Amino acid sequence: MVKFIHIKTKIEMKVAIVGVSGAVGQEFLRVLDERNFPLDELVLFGSARSTGKEYTFKGKKLIVKELLHNDDFKGIDIALVSAGASISKDFADTITRFGTIMIDNSSAFRMENDIPLVVPEVNAIDAKNMPRRIIANPNCTTIQLVVALKPIEDLSHIRRVHIATYQSASGAGASGMDELEAQTVQVANGEEPTVAKFAYQLVQNLIPHIDVFTDNDYTKEEMKMFHETRKIMHSDIMVSATAVRVPVLRAHSEAIWVETENEIPLDKAKAAFQNADGVIVIDNPAEKKYPMPLHLAGRDEVFVGRIRKDITNPNGLAFWTVSDQIKKGAALNAVQIAEYLVKEGVVK
Ligand SMILES: NC(=O)c1ccc[n+]([C@@H]2O[C@H](COP(=O)([O-])OP(=O)(O)OC[C@H]3O[C@@H](n4cnc5c(N)ncnc54)[C@H](OP(=O)(O)O)[C@@H]3O)[C@@H](O)[C@H]2O)c1
Repeated sequence: MVKFIHIKTKIEMKVAIVGVSGAVGQEFLRVLDERNFPLDELVLFGSARSTGKEYTFKGKKLIVKELLHNDDFKGIDIALVSAGASISKDFADTITRFGTIMIDNSSAFRMENDIPLVVPEVNAIDAKNMPRRIIANPNCTTIQLVVALKPIEDLSHIRRVHIATYQSASGAGASGMDELEAQTVQVANGEEPTVAKFAYQLVQNLIPHIDVFTDNDYTKEEMKMFHETRKIMHSDIMVSATAVRVPVLRAHSEAIWVETENEIPLDKAKAAFQNADGVIVIDNPAEKKYPMPLHLAGRDEVFVGRIRKDITNPNGLAFWTVSDQIKKGAALNAVQIAEYLVKEGVVK
């Protein structure tokens, strides 16, 4: 007689969000819900400031726990972490020591050799090699840049990129967004705007200064684009950036000039963008159609437009991108990494 033994096949998937009250943390809640990420339990963490606060996920009330050096991560499969670099460094061991995979949004580990830096459209496979069970999410400006560079690199190796960024206030977190909104009202009322988060008043202004200045007179934000792009693309590509904070609430824009090894005909470049993963082309100047942050906040993709030959260089192309940096530039990219790990059976 054949005996059937019942084997329990259902394994629970437990996910944590660390820094849930922040701009990226709130986006994690939306993205996990929107994409129906296959989780059975969600655990929320914050500092003492938001401990005990309630958030609703799929109709269920969840209470924020304080992030402490204890055993709270036992049994958690994936931790989506966005509480800043110092917290990531301080808590990495606490988060990973029972086997949890930490997908980190901060700059803490991005350039470490034994930690993969991943944008799924470009180098998903790197996520499988994570000896420390930490995967880093790149800087938001780098993510949208490499998604747009990948289809061009596939046509001809990119030697050099010049880029000017137009980075929204929310790139500086929830308080950056609050400051721009408050300043807008203050200036409209003829009051002196309150300046705290940014170096200067942002409303009616542009600030060519994001993060601290480094020894070579570039800012750290600009140098992140140089180093992170090379690591993600496994390339000797050179990136020279000027990063600018602009009075836009959400979604970053980038003006990009690339120089390739071989000349790429314009129609080929356009077709490559059109067929690229995670890219949507909006490019019809005659009808005033081009990507703009006002219309694209909340969207998943990197939008590309103004595609043209660089008149200064036969091997050059120029184009313009817009992407929601809290979504694709942070929360969505991290969740896509988690989805890849599930799909590949790395996390079951
Ligand atoms: N904003 C963006 O566009 C963006 C894009 C890519 C990457 N990132 C990165 O993502 C991270 C978070 O950015 P954000 O924009 O979401 O910042 P944010 O809005 O200022 O939020 C910061 C979060 O960190 C939490 N936190 C601070 N200290 C903590 C502690 N001791 N223990 C636990 N949680 C703590 C805060 O929780 P409490 O409220 O409980 O204190 C809050 O939820 C940063 O590393 C940032 O560089 C941001």
